[in-house]
Amino acid sequence: MYYSEDLVEDIRMKNDIVSVISSYVKLQKKGSSYFGLCPFHNEKSPSFSVSGQKQMYYCFGCGEGGNVITFIMKYENYTFAEALKYLADRVGVDLPEMEYSKEAKAQAELKTQMLSINNEAGKYYHYLLKNEKGTGAYKYLTERELYDETIKKFGLGYSGKYSGALYSYLKKKGYRDDVLKETGLFTFEEKGVKDKFWNRVMFPIMDVNNRVIGFGGRVMGDAKPKYLNSPETKLFDKSRNLYGLNYARVSRKSNILLCEGYMDVIALHQAGFNNAVAALGTSFTSGHASLLKRYTDEVVLTFDSDEAGVKAALRAIPILKSIGISVKVIDMMPYKDPDDFIKALGSLAFQKRIDTAQNSFLYEIAAIEKNYDRNDPEEKTEFYNIVTNKLLEFTDELERINYVEAVSNEFSIPMDLLKTAVSKKALYYSGRPKEEAPRTRERMNQYKAKDDGIKQSQMILLTWLIDEPKLYHMIKDYISPSDFIESIYHKVASLLFEQLEHGEVNPAKIINGFQQEEEHKEVASLFNSPLNENLSVGDKEKVLNDTIKNIKKNKLDYLSRTTTDINQLQNIINEQADLQKMHIKLI
Ligand code: GTP
Ligand code: MN
Repeated sequence: MYYSEDLVEDIRMKNDIVSVISSYVKLQKKGSSYFGLCPFHNEKSPSFSVSGQKQMYYCFGCGEGGNVITFIMKYENYTFAEALKYLADRVGVDLPEMEYSKEAKAQAELKTQMLSINNEAGKYYHYLLKNEKGTGAYKYLTERELYDETIKKFGLGYSGKYSGALYSYLKKKGYRDDVLKETGLFTFEEKGVKDKFWNRVMFPIMDVNNRVIGFGGRVMGDAKPKYLNSPETKLFDKSRNLYGLNYARVSRKSNILLCEGYMDVIALHQAGFNNAVAALGTSFTSGHASLLKRYTDEVVLTFDSDEAGVKAALRAIPILKSIGISVKVIDMMPYKDPDDFIKALGSLAFQKRIDTAQNSFLYEIAAIEKNYDRNDPEEKTEFYNIVTNKLLEFTDELERINYVEAVSNEFSIPMDLLKTAVSKKALYYSGRPKEEAPRTRERMNQYKAKDDGIKQSQMILLTWLIDEPKLYHMIKDYISPSDFIESIYHKVASLLFEQLEHGEVNPAKIINGFQQEEEHKEVASLFNSPLNENLSVGDKEKVLNDTIKNIKKNKLDYLSRTTTDINQLQNIINEQADLQKMHIKLI
């Protein structure tokens, strides 16, 4: 499955990276590059760079990087082909029909058919609801105070009394069994095929592009299970979809409300809170969080007020915070969920609860406090210790102090006591590695960079050649792409050396040679290794020679370890001796 290299390159060139990224990230010019806050990790000072000259972006914090195509893949969660299509549309280029492999074609065709089946099923359920067969279901929904307009907006429906009706309806339309099976809407048994959903109120689940990818169905009485959901299918990835996000993403509100169920989302939208979404039937995952991060920086949790809801909130808070979403928690008491709350007190009262939602850190502390009896000195001490430790989550000193104050006020802990305890511990920890801290990508990258000086040398040389192409003619007699032994480095070096040979340096084009996001990231890092720009010519000459020697030495060592040919071994030894004498002069 591919487009021609020329076409990819043409589309890439027409989309200036600075102007594309500017529409997602606020950028400021600094020297020859632009900088902004990285959209892929949580940071307070900008380490995300975009270079118009290289037509690449790179984050010095988390190591994300690539060209304009990578950016769109990563930001919009698109495949390579989808990103290309998006960028082609952006500049008015028509893409030719894809040259699919047979396998890819079959998969794409299957998905199209599944979407079409889901769509038909949704229409069928909705029709039944409006039909006399659906009187009971319709009554159920109106008794839950849903307006016709809402029922229509969410495409609600009813799956008739008899299991098998949808199946025969779709069979008559000509859909094949193997495809119907993939949708998860039916159970195929020896006795015959049954509909998964019958006699339930139906909630179509839509993705952000308004395509039906699955269903939820609720019983109308007290039977169990209360809700039944479509299984995961090739279309429906539960940890990457949020109910209501197709509407919430265009709500133009400053935050997103995250709640627990279908009815909560629907009731909230009906009450004017069109920024509500829910993770259905599965617990909240980091996949959900990164999906939300694309549309907002603030999430307000409106989970149920029961024990399960509190637990779910305490689970979701760190997941959201770790990717830089700030979190608040609504107090729903004395009601169970947003649906009940709004029915009882109306939307104005709910808006008030949003406005006064609790800071998630204070919410977490409040949940901890419940487990300790502060009349008992031992438990009180333990509570204070836990609070102190938790305050150390804030690495920024100013922020930490502000939280110390807030916690002290909110939980009546003497301010001086808490301040002293926290700053003592902060001092104690500042000198040592934080074992308890999660291994962020940032830290992983540091490890990676450190663990291998050879890779570092190769990266430095590649970055250097892009920044100063004229170096190429001074070094090309001494080093060649074959000296880069790791496969990705080798491929990048080959492509770059070829460009340099023709006097056209175009790192962003080199990235086109790779299709995976992860590869783009790695290639980008090769072109963005930190160079010291203030070296004297003499130092520069030394660094250049050391770098090249290091790379060559590594290659020769590798060859001498692996060769079995005595003549070649002799050559290697000669080359190793030559390498000692090698010296490239810069002037
Ligand atoms: P209503 O009773 O219709 O108001 O639903 P609710 O949203 O108040 O229900 P609840 O808080 O019990 O459930 C929240 C969400 O969890 C639902 O919207 C479903 O997505 C999911 N859920 C609830 N019960 C079940 C169940 O029995 N099975 C499965 N798979 N999911 C469920
Ligand atoms: Mn409810």
